[in-house]
Amino acid sequence: MAADNQKLIEEIQKLKKEKDVAILAHYYEEGAIQDIADYVGDSFYLAKIGQQVPQKNILLAGVVFMAESVKILNPEKTVLVPDLNAGCSLVESSPYADYLAWRREHPSALAVTYINSSAEVKSISDVIITSSNAAQILESIPKDREILFGPDQHLGKWLSKKLGRPMHFWRGACEVHVLFNAERLAKLIQQHPDAVVIAHPECDDAVLKYASVIGSTSKLLEEVKTNPAKKFIVATETGIFHQMHKLRPDVELIQAPVVDENCMCNDCPYMKMNSLEKIKMSLLTFKPAITLDETLRQKAKVSLERMMKITSGEKVEWPERFVQ
Ligand code: 13P
Ligand code: SF4
Repeated sequence: MAADNQKLIEEIQKLKKEKDVAILAHYYEEGAIQDIADYVGDSFYLAKIGQQVPQKNILLAGVVFMAESVKILNPEKTVLVPDLNAGCSLVESSPYADYLAWRREHPSALAVTYINSSAEVKSISDVIITSSNAAQILESIPKDREILFGPDQHLGKWLSKKLGRPMHFWRGACEVHVLFNAERLAKLIQQHPDAVVIAHPECDDAVLKYASVIGSTSKLLEEVKTNPAKKFIVATETGIFHQMHKLRPDVELIQAPVVDENCMCNDCPYMKMNSLEKIKMSLLTFKPAITLDETLRQKAKVSLERMMKITSGEKVEWPERFVQ
């Protein structure tokens, strides 16, 4: 098995060079995929690095909305994904027609939308955020503007409380993070009083209230890297353990508990659709590739570019009303 993997890895390394492809991977991918990637990071980092890589082509080992964001910002590049079925429950929970109707109900509001959304929903949003830049972006919006936040209600509610900013919430949720269980977590904390509890803001408020550090995958990783504690209880997807173990081989990492102790529910089923075999096939055939209607891409680019501008310290204009 290990020898098979080694052969696959060598083939992938050779193909990506021959075909001028940069491999970008999210922290929730299996360890072997993170290790063959040229860049590994959170969803904001992947969108940003996609604009900087010198290669003509990109393979994004993550979920489809991440690859779409890269394609929206870099139309000249071929953007490959190992599996086009790698969706996201947040994308599923926010169908375009329903989102559009919601926007039309609040025409003077600004739509602040999580990057975990379809290109169509991005095209009717004013700005895109990720959990690593959401606070900065929300703080840049004039205080008198009404805000529609979606599709993740848990991230939205956590931000609203943290920033003291009222917002309207779309009722989407991450099917993986909502499975962490507050009661079982409380018991685990009692058994490990020396552990630092860290959580992704897609978790329910009942879980988040036990966490001393809440943030994006990169923030959680940074905490494990820099906090001298020797034990962490981690409430996010299992893939992140790979980098945490690499950075801090000396610490004990404990997965936060889910409702059913026999279930492997902390694996995102979409992230885990990718495999080394599929990556090799995608590099060989140059399929599947992300394709987007050009009018849709142009519209979706506006909200993604606002995110890039605000995070680079540039001032942006906000539309007075939503017209569509
Ligand atoms: P990050 O932006 O923190 O990497 O999160 C992406 C994601 O899909 C979390 O479930
Ligand atoms: Fe979507 Fe949740 Fe998977 Fe992240 S972990 S990609 S939010 S389903």
